[in-house]
Amino acid sequence: MMPEKVVITDVGPRDGLQNQPKILSLEQRISLVHAIAATGVPQIEVGSFVSPKAVPAMAGTDQVFAALQSADFVTPTIALIPNMKGYELARAAGAKTVCMVLYASDGMAEKNAVMSMAEAELITLEILKLAKHDGIAVIATIAVAFECPFDGPTDPTVVEAIAAKFIAAGADELVLADTIGAAHPQQVRELTAALVATHGAEKLGCHFHDTRAMGLANVYAAVESGIRRFDSSIAGLGGCPFAPGASGNVATDDIAMMLEQMGFETGIDLEKLMQASDLAQTLTGTAPGGRSKAWLQGHLAKKAS
Ligand code: COA
Ligand code: ZN
Repeated sequence: MMPEKVVITDVGPRDGLQNQPKILSLEQRISLVHAIAATGVPQIEVGSFVSPKAVPAMAGTDQVFAALQSADFVTPTIALIPNMKGYELARAAGAKTVCMVLYASDGMAEKNAVMSMAEAELITLEILKLAKHDGIAVIATIAVAFECPFDGPTDPTVVEAIAAKFIAAGADELVLADTIGAAHPQQVRELTAALVATHGAEKLGCHFHDTRAMGLANVYAAVESGIRRFDSSIAGLGGCPFAPGASGNVATDDIAMMLEQMGFETGIDLEKLMQASDLAQTLTGTAPGGRSKAWLQGHLAKKAS
């Protein structure tokens, strides 16, 4: 039997670097993207088109895109956008897939993008129309899908309604983001099972942060519901500068190892993954690295000798 595939998107060069005290140079950002691409990960979120005043670490994402427009760089890339201006900049930079942020709370919409939930929805509908015409794929990510640092726990029916609306509107993927890493596996299982029952799993993805050490457990709960698309971050980098308490994403190091061990196919070469993880740690000085890393490195060294 063919192993079942899980599609991992490494969001380290975006979610990971946006929250770092140290701002990497364009060359460093590009070298990290290349190292992640070398692992075989199916998709990489390489940066965001946001105000450089709001997020200085993401200034120059157009140049990152320019550097990746070469025939030997074949990994599909994603640009995160918060608004219409972001869409226009991403399109001008040659992005083929954008990830637009929706919100399950007004508090987060206001703090992150200076708009309401309803405004973000209207802009996203507009972007979906333009993107169809422009031949650009749109991932709609629902921020604070489980809990908001400003407005408290999220009502799952709010998330279900947004998901239904944007799947119907033609979003290519719909991602539930636990922006501050507050969700627990039971909650994840219930919400993802309900969404999979209504919409099927094909377009659904999850984005977990490991703030309370439940990132991997939440991935497992979503896998059990049938979800086969996950965001994760090289060496566990990550966090939203506008969401107090948010810490790193679930590490690609850990999620790849767990899924491979469970018999799923991720396309990721674990040895190359360790090299990319080392680079992320060297460049930032703060990336925690996956919790499986010490074991995995020892295991790979034993296999090689
Ligand atoms: N990319 C680059 N610049 C942008 C932009 C974008 N997507 N959207 C707006 N701007 C610029 C405007 O041109 C304007 O520039 P100026 O001051 O030089 O004239 C400035 O940002 C303010 O524009 P305005 O429309 O008034 O935006 P705002 O004050 O309402 O701020 C955002 C909204 C979205 C621009 C800003 O909060 C932002 O970029 N946040 C980033 C959110 C983020 O990355 N979160 C983490 C990932 S989810
Ligand atoms: Zn995130």
